[in-house]
Parts: sequence; C-alpha cells; structure tokens
Amino acid sequence: RHTMATNITFHPGSVTKPERDDLLKQRGVTIWLTGLSASGKSTIACALEQHLLHLQKFAYRLDGDNIRFGLNKDLGFDEKSRNENIRRIGEVAKLFSDASAITITAFISPYRQDRAVAKELHDKASIPFIEVYIDAPLSVVEERDPKGLYKKARAGEIKGMLVYHARTHPSSSSSRIDFTGISAPYEAPENPEIHIRTDETSVVEAVQKITEYLVSKGYLS
Ligand code: PPS
Repeated sequence: RHTMATNITFHPGSVTKPERDDLLKQRGVTIWLTGLSASGKSTIACALEQHLLHLQKFAYRLDGDNIRFGLNKDLGFDEKSRNENIRRIGEVAKLFSDASAITITAFISPYRQDRAVAKELHDKASIPFIEVYIDAPLSVVEERDPKGLYKKARAGEIKGMLVYHARTHPSSSSSRIDFTGISAPYEAPENPEIHIRTDETSVVEAVQKITEYLVSKGYLS
C-alpha cells in the first residue's frame, strides 16, 4: 500500500547540457564518420568506441546494425531514403550527445547537404560535431570489397531485394539500386575536422588521431 508523499517539490525545468556534462564529467560530442562502403568506418568506429569505453568514457556507436535494422528499417538506398536516413541519424546522434555520450556515427552519408543539416542541428544545440573523413580511393575499396557489393554493382546486380528489409519495398524488388561510388555519388567532405587515409593508416593510429583531437579540443580529459 502506497502512502502519498507530502512536501515533495518537483523542480520545473530540466538540467542543461553544460550542467549534465559537468555532473557526468563528460562532454557529449558527435564524431561523424563519413566515407565509401568498405573505407573502414565501422572498423574504426568499433575500435574507437572500445578504446573510449576502456577509458571509462560513455561512448556509443550508431551504425547500420542498430539503425538500418531498427529505426530506419523502412528506408532503402534511393537518394530520398538516404537523405531521410541521415536526417534521422543526425537527430538521434544529437540526442545521445545531449545525454553526454561520445557518439560515434558510421554511415556513408554521401551527400554534403545532409551532413551539413546534421551539423547545423548540433551547432544550434551547441554540441560539437566532428566530421571525420574516412578516406580510401575507390580502387582500394573495390579491391577490399568484403561483401562483394562493388563486384555486384559493376555487374548491375544490386537490386532492390539486396537492401536491408527490402520486403517493406516489394515494388522495388526487381529495380536496380545505385551503389555509392559506382553509380551513386559520394561527395567528399571539403573541410573535415579530421582526415584519415585508411590505405596509409592503421586502425590503432586512426583511433589515436581521433582521441588526440578530442583531447586537444578539451572534449576528453
Ligand atoms: S547511406 O548512404 O549513408 O544512407 O548508407 P548507410 O546507411 O551507411 O548504409 C551503407 C551500407 O549498406 C550496404 N548497401 C549499400 N551501400 C551503398 N549503396 C547501396 N546501394 C547499398 N546497398 C546496400 C553497404 O554494405 C554499406 O555498408 P558499409 O558498412 O558502408 O560498407
């Protein structure tokens, strides 16, 4: 049986982002990785997340596995769907960073304008947005081709059914889907905060480079 508590006052208003960061002793920031398929985004994102967690930091990674199979499972790979994919990811990243997480996103995010929208959202909320260009030449990522998708794309075999949850788009089941870098554009960042050439940089070095940047900006102590 519950007894109603008396003399309890609820304070209206919420904790501000700076207050939350102070209380949790961590600065919420978004680290936005962008690059071609097979450029190394997921590998670096995983290693970075692990490294930060081992430093006892609250880091969280958003990638295809937890976004395209969940929140965005209704989206495919046509231009409008990619715009919407990135728009939602920008919003979710902002929320995580507002909650003081070091948020790492690992999506191709091929359109400059979409990344600019995500950045603007963060700017408006005074949340740092760090664009990291995960750069490898097309020849290198085509050579890596871990999922055989470049080969399929060259052969014009990337069909609607190949994309995640294509059953939600039955009408596109037999239509060709453009593949980034082959028949769909990738607009490289013009002024990324960090530029990593993955054909010349090891994963450990990449993690180090991003971590050093965070420290130099006072985002990580
Ligand atoms: S985007 O463009 O930012 O909305 O793409 P993203 O959410 O990062 O998803 C990219 C991964 O989906 C697989 N895939 C495709 N990529 C590009 N073009 C097409 N048409 C496509 N179809 C499926 C591909 O494996 C990408 O994986 P990564 O991890 O980037 O290699």
